[in-house]
Amino acid sequence: MKKILVLGAAGQIGSELVPYLRNTYGADNVVATDVHRNCGPEITEGGPFITCDALDGAKLNEIVDKYKIDTIYNLVAMLSAKAEADPKFGWDLNMGVLFNCLEIAREKGVAVFTPSSIGAFGPETPMDGTPQDTIMRPKTIYGVSKVAGELLADYYVKRFGIDARGVRYPGIISYVTLPGGGTTDYAVEIYYDAIKKKTYSSNLKAGTFLDMMYMPDALKAAVEVMEADPAKLIHRNCFNVASMSFDPEIIANEIKKHIPDFTLTYDVNPMKQAIAESWPNSMDDTAAREEWGWNPTYNLETMTVDMLAKLKVKLK
Ligand code: SER
Repeated sequence: MKKILVLGAAGQIGSELVPYLRNTYGADNVVATDVHRNCGPEITEGGPFITCDALDGAKLNEIVDKYKIDTIYNLVAMLSAKAEADPKFGWDLNMGVLFNCLEIAREKGVAVFTPSSIGAFGPETPMDGTPQDTIMRPKTIYGVSKVAGELLADYYVKRFGIDARGVRYPGIISYVTLPGGGTTDYAVEIYYDAIKKKTYSSNLKAGTFLDMMYMPDALKAAVEVMEADPAKLIHRNCFNVASMSFDPEIIANEIKKHIPDFTLTYDVNPMKQAIAESWPNSMDDTAAREEWGWNPTYNLETMTVDMLAKLKVKLK
């Protein structure tokens, strides 16, 4: 049985990945950490929880030794829009935590999962059917840290023989924890406002297509890529994973099928718009499908049914 350490357990992905991993591998085998205790009881009481700044390599080492950890899920990251407000801290956080994980992997042989993102691509990248291996010249500090992180992880794989893997996540949509300052956040907020106010003001323009993914598929991707047979992996850091691509009009129309008087207006945020325009419209995830059997469950239609049902209960 695996012994897993999750960094960033209070975040958008971490808050759902921890229970998912505890269900899969047993509650005692998944140690959750975050820099603060600001997580629900499911995280802090559903299994081991430790307050820890993942930039503190010595503390991480202690936890890895104490709990005999063999796999780290590194979900600490400052997202694209937030990192633009403090590029130095964005870089220091995203790279510093990854460096700590890779060093622990080198010294103790643990496996490491670190997500990359659609944000690792840039305006020179082919936008439609974005290939697995292509031009990556991002124009955000978040993207720069993600490309550097992919290269660094693959460097450790080649140079030291560690096991590091990852996926390039699209914008992730979920109803449990809000994302913290990303460019794709509108696709989460739109569901909240549809239930609360029956109207939403989008900070991205009509026609801005981006890859998106529902959280259950994001969790599945994280576990499946780490469980994949290493002999079959040609790529490691990181795999394109896709499941749906839409613009604000398309998601609004999907919501209208359930809330007919829902209206969409626009109040474009120029910084977020520029970032979104530099990211792919839709990625080609053939490598993930061929090398480890990636196959998402949700599309826009099925995600919308589930999001609205779950949020109606949550926001009552
Ligand atoms: N959701 C992220 C962001 O918008 C992209 O990975 O920053």
